[in-house]
Amino acid sequence: MQSTGFAHWLIVVVEIGAAIALMVLALGVVVIASMWFIDRNQKANSVLRNFPVVGHFRYWFLHLGEFFRQYLYSSDREEMPFNRAERTWVYRAAKNVDNTAAFGSSRDLRAEGVPFFVNAPFPDLGQEHVEPVPVTIGPYAREPYSHSAFFNISAMSFGALSAPAVRALSRGAAKAGIWMDTGEGGLAPYHLEGGCDIVFEIGTAKYGVRTPDGQLDDDKLLAICAHKQVKMVSIKLGQGAKPGMGGLLPAAKVTREIAEIRGIPVGKDSQSPNRHLDIGNIHQLLDKIAHIRELTGKPVGFKAVLGGVDWIGDLCDEVKKRGIQSAPDFIIVDGSEGGTGAAPQTLMEGVGLPLHEALPALLDMLITKGLRERVKVICSGKCITAYDVAWALSIGADFVNSARGFMLALGCIQSLQCNRNTCPTGITTQNTKLQRGLVVADKSERVFHYADNLMHEVGIIAHSCGVSEPRELNRSHCRVVGNDGLSVPLETLYPYPKVAKLPENA
Ligand SMILES: Cc1cc2nc3c(=O)[nH]c(=O)nc-3n(C[C@H](O)[C@H](O)[C@H](O)COP(=O)(O)O)c2cc1C
Repeated sequence: MQSTGFAHWLIVVVEIGAAIALMVLALGVVVIASMWFIDRNQKANSVLRNFPVVGHFRYWFLHLGEFFRQYLYSSDREEMPFNRAERTWVYRAAKNVDNTAAFGSSRDLRAEGVPFFVNAPFPDLGQEHVEPVPVTIGPYAREPYSHSAFFNISAMSFGALSAPAVRALSRGAAKAGIWMDTGEGGLAPYHLEGGCDIVFEIGTAKYGVRTPDGQLDDDKLLAICAHKQVKMVSIKLGQGAKPGMGGLLPAAKVTREIAEIRGIPVGKDSQSPNRHLDIGNIHQLLDKIAHIRELTGKPVGFKAVLGGVDWIGDLCDEVKKRGIQSAPDFIIVDGSEGGTGAAPQTLMEGVGLPLHEALPALLDMLITKGLRERVKVICSGKCITAYDVAWALSIGADFVNSARGFMLALGCIQSLQCNRNTCPTGITTQNTKLQRGLVVADKSERVFHYADNLMHEVGIIAHSCGVSEPRELNRSHCRVVGNDGLSVPLETLYPYPKVAKLPENA
């Protein structure tokens, strides 16, 4: 009796299952037929018009390739902007795990553009690396700034970055003894949290220090510079990734807090102008530098991406007329390979000089005009490993900044979504659910270790080259491989120019 009942129920279940399967099948046929009809008759996409339905696989694979390529297919030294070998170096430095390699280098030492360093025949016995000595920026400011660390955190705004990212950078920077640049989004409490030195950036929209019509509000700037942590003020003229263009902060990222800090309306797109309204030539630039230095007492300089250096020469000539104290205390030169939260690809890839041309050109112009000692040079542009930084010091930079190196230290996986508020690691998103992934206490340690280990390794290179501190590296200490696979010293590629004599009144 019982088994007859069970058989009955089994038949009913099988019949219902078969009916559902038939319905799903019928629905599938209808969906595929509709897709086929739509694809076949649409006029915008030739692949789908010729290969309805199956053509979609091309787009799925293209999309999935973005994610799988870095794990399965790309070789260690292939990807852009940073290949796996470079990223891994940063991750390991940040995690403070052993960064030694076995068996030999996978780096092709005959590839064009590869730099390497010239070791001294008799290295110093007592030590394995050398430490930097302090450099003073802004000797004519009321509060000159002396700073040893040659590797520091480049401008990234609160807004482009999340609050936990800024907090982790601030704490890590304090522990490593390096500065953090606020970027153009104003000064947030998160920047101050760790107690690190701060470079305050004034962007073209003057976020955080603006009047309602976008002019500089002296009182707001004074209030910001009243914080002891704020050591210097940087006027941003431009940025390597988007020369000649202001930035857009999309409405989704303009939260109440960000709007308050920046001095703009909540939840509306915020467009910064292509240049400062009040800086349209070198005279106005020097006037503004003098005004801010006098107002705040801090060293003042500017950040620019260079298309050439003739205008820097004109600026130096004008400085000589006004007197050497009128010079910018520093120039931050950003290579065209620099990163950003968002910029048009055409500008990112096709406008402005890359760092390996811009840095020597800037330095040589300053040397030629006799202002090299007066104007400190800070550079940025894909300098994320010890080699890159040692190369920049060898060319002559006083300091090297990095933005994306520190993003990698924070756990960035290079998913290239900084412009979409969907950053999977919580670094460049205002979505609090995604920010949860970034644990400040852990990531601040990584920021510290990254900076610390990188500077230590540059110190090892400098020691091996036989100099007593990293900034003594010069163009004779580094060689770069040419297109014939043979290396030439930097001093041959970029010969030092003659030093000009300053006029009596300077
Ligand atoms: C997410 C992000 C935000 C940035 N925001 C700013 C900014 O507010 N102001 C600025 O001058 N540069 C900004 N930059 C540019 C960096 O400061 C830096 O000049 C450039 O990325 C080159 O350094 P890197 O190659 O180490 O990233 C930003 C870069 C990134 C990746």
